[in-house]
Amino acid sequence: MDKFVIRGGNPLLGTVRISGAKNAALPAMAAALLTEEPVILENIPQVRDIETTRRLLSAMGAEVELGYGRAQHRTTISCRRVSSPEASYELVKTMRASTLVLGPLLARCGRARVSLPGGCAIGARPIDLHIKGLELLGAKIKQEHGYVEASCRRLRGAEILFDKITVTGTEDLLMAATLAEGESVLQNCAREPEVADLASLLNKMGAHIEGAGTATVRVKGVGELHGAKHRIIPDRIEAATFLIAGALTDGDLNIAACDPDHLGALLDKLHEVGISTQRTSDSVRVEGSRNLKAADVVTEEYPGFPTDLQAQYMALATQADGTSVITENIFENRFMHALELVRMGANIKIEGRRAVVGGRSPLSGAAVLASDLRASASLLVAALVADGETIIDRVYHIDRGYENIEEKMRAVGAQIRRLGEILPKKR
Ligand code: EPZ
Repeated sequence: MDKFVIRGGNPLLGTVRISGAKNAALPAMAAALLTEEPVILENIPQVRDIETTRRLLSAMGAEVELGYGRAQHRTTISCRRVSSPEASYELVKTMRASTLVLGPLLARCGRARVSLPGGCAIGARPIDLHIKGLELLGAKIKQEHGYVEASCRRLRGAEILFDKITVTGTEDLLMAATLAEGESVLQNCAREPEVADLASLLNKMGAHIEGAGTATVRVKGVGELHGAKHRIIPDRIEAATFLIAGALTDGDLNIAACDPDHLGALLDKLHEVGISTQRTSDSVRVEGSRNLKAADVVTEEYPGFPTDLQAQYMALATQADGTSVITENIFENRFMHALELVRMGANIKIEGRRAVVGGRSPLSGAAVLASDLRASASLLVAALVADGETIIDRVYHIDRGYENIEEKMRAVGAQIRRLGEILPKKR
């Protein structure tokens, strides 16, 4: 397993270009199942979860071309023949977002067999709301041997009210409703930009969706969808991760090819802690500071402060002047990074869903363990300001959602290198 070796102390200076959003690309790739015509997606990030999705779709019989040449970062997906509408445990256990194929397979093929995702490091991650919504659309669903088996001659439009706001639940049902007979009204939907981006692609494919990105979405079902070409939105979490790193290392960093309109909650929080930023239509410049003020954070669904930034913000809070209270409202176990930050010298007390972070805690480099995608990013950000060398193990977690992060960081001054797995020499 690869490791990162980071030596702290350098400010991040210069420009970093943001990749396409993993959490927009995954549902967009699943949407290709809804048509037999090719779907072309550009600005695809070169990350592990995209490769997993390629394998998942190919296993169903789809033809997936994936190219990352200079001008490309593009995939062309043709689901003319979906020979086996299945998502195996082997693949789903590595990426729970595989459940995004459930709605499209039901809508296109009338049946689907998808492994239950099981839990992950940050929580139980149930999909009961996906299943409840699909049943309201007329699907017959049973769960046995760790799989969801769903079938339906043709889905029928319905009124669906989500008990809880769920991002992939909204996306799964949005895709299913596009081919249902009649109109569907989805209420209490997730409002993330990635949901709106998916709807934009689906409408290019011939769907009739209104209100995506707001809490109420209306879908008029159609008989079939056609191919389309679509450019994936920039990754707001990657952009925010670099903004936090630039702020924390007292740097001067320009985050290019991002969408500042998706960064509101973080930009407000950075201003609250005393960081100034300047923005254009597709970039944000952050100037760091050694005088960061403590500020509390409560994670909420979009447009609130994203749970996917909680870990990275905690790293910044360890250096702020004062105590910051971080409340994690979305997932039940998303403080794994705190224990590793404490090993680097942070002063953090976990009280249920709250983390009380003492400020001005000098961090020292240490050997630490990544536990999930965003926890890994938190440890990397902390290592940039730690005294000495930090070794982060299991960086495959970070490779799931950040494209070439060590090259991007090195290009703006970070002292970071990847230690590949040293395989024993063949005898
Ligand atoms: C999406 O996960 C993102 N993943 C996550 O990003 C992100 O953390 C999360 O939304 C919240 O913003 C993708 O988009 C691929 P949810 P998702 O369904 O859809 C509960 C990353 O780091 N819930 O919005 O799985 C659930 O347990 C990843 O890129 C149910 O109870 O999250 C959680 O408490 C991590 N029943 C809450 O809702 C359900 O059927 C929000 O989960 C579904 C969800």
